[in-house]
Amino acid sequence: MEFLKAHSLLILVVLSLTLSSITSVTNSMSSCHNPNKGAYWPSWAKNFPPSSIDTNLFTHVYYAFLSPSNTTFKFEIDDPTALLLKNFTTTLHTKNPNLKTLFSIGGASELGSLILSRMASTHKSRKTFIVSTIEVARKFDFDGVDLDWEFPKTPKDMKNFRHLLHEWRVAVKKEAIANDTPQLLLSAATYYSPEINLDNIHRKYPVESINENLDWINAMCYDYRGSWDLSATGSPALLYDSNSNVSTSYGLQAWIEAKIQREKLVMGLPLYGRTWQLKDPTLYGIGAPAVDVGPGDEGQMPYVEVEKFNAQNSAKVVFDLSTVSTYSVAGTSWIGYDDVRSVALKVAYARTQKLGGYFFWAVNGDQDWKISTEASRTWTL
Ligand SMILES: *[C@@H]1O[C@H](CO)[C@@H](O)[C@H](O)[C@H]1NC(C)=O
Ligand SMILES: *[C@@H]1O[C@H](CO)[C@@H](O)[C@H](O)[C@H]1NC(C)=O
Ligand SMILES: *[C@@H]1O[C@H](CO)[C@@H](O)[C@H](O)[C@H]1NC(C)=O
Repeated sequence: MEFLKAHSLLILVVLSLTLSSITSVTNSMSSCHNPNKGAYWPSWAKNFPPSSIDTNLFTHVYYAFLSPSNTTFKFEIDDPTALLLKNFTTTLHTKNPNLKTLFSIGGASELGSLILSRMASTHKSRKTFIVSTIEVARKFDFDGVDLDWEFPKTPKDMKNFRHLLHEWRVAVKKEAIANDTPQLLLSAATYYSPEINLDNIHRKYPVESINENLDWINAMCYDYRGSWDLSATGSPALLYDSNSNVSTSYGLQAWIEAKIQREKLVMGLPLYGRTWQLKDPTLYGIGAPAVDVGPGDEGQMPYVEVEKFNAQNSAKVVFDLSTVSTYSVAGTSWIGYDDVRSVALKVAYARTQKLGGYFFWAVNGDQDWKISTEASRTWTL
């Protein structure tokens, strides 16, 4: 048995060496594709100004978030925000001139999602919005714009999303020609899978239009489990789940089956955990009975805080290879999260699948750049 294991491991190693030499040959023949290493910067992050970002670890950093006015659909930017936007792009471009900056529109708020739905619903409001995104990007020196509509709610929303992407690309192309400047990058943050079944409404992303009009999408491969189900613990961002379709591998394969171009698919990684309070401290596996949220802010905790909590409470840390996820337990406190090991395996998975890269939500959750460094190294080695 031990021999068999060693033997298959050897085959794996040989296989991956062969694969990597094939990859390097194809890479040197075709235009070399650099991985997209993204991170979102929450503009409300206290004690974490843009200057604290290690710009060697990322290729794209997103300013989160701006929202258009719910009456005009233009961006109405006040003076403090204008200063922050300028400071963001200037600081990051100075630290690393190759780094691309994008501003991200929308976010998780219900109101933001409503505004985007109304904005996308008519040609006129889409046009106003698109013109305004280009003005903001150019005025504040962004390299691109990211749409974070969480999530189109109906098939009609998806149809409007498709129109928006097409009209946006046309406008961005035209602007680039008129001003003899590179086109703005256009990306979108999406659900982990191309089909959404929330609230009993089935809808599907317009993959063909995404391929045609967006530079890439950031698939939000996290928040599979959380405080909305307190009956049992769960891995919030597991790679594999043998019992359900709610997993990163399922979502990414579903995008590939829906025919997204692989290099346009960017895998999301959470730099935070989700917490539960166990019913019985002796039953602490994934799926163990729970009764409430655990430590943190409403059951959510940045990775840096998880590490602190684990150390201060001498928590038991378990890496679960079958799901590729990590959890820690101290008394009745239970935290599901990603650590260096799970992130390295996920990034290796994304690379093997020839995806575009990965991104983090959010950049201020890392601890001494441990996870971001490992992710970057895993893709580069
Ligand atoms: C716009 O948003 C504000 C709250 O920020 C709300 O009071 C107002 O009713 C909204 N207007 C429309 C047209 O939805
Ligand atoms: C950005 O703002 C910080 C203070 O918040 C300041 O120290 C820094 O000089 C600013 N950088 C630029 C490029 O404006
Ligand atoms: C998972 O998705 C597949 C198709 O992609 C479907 O056939 C199957 O029923 C789904 N399983 C569950 C548990 O939803």
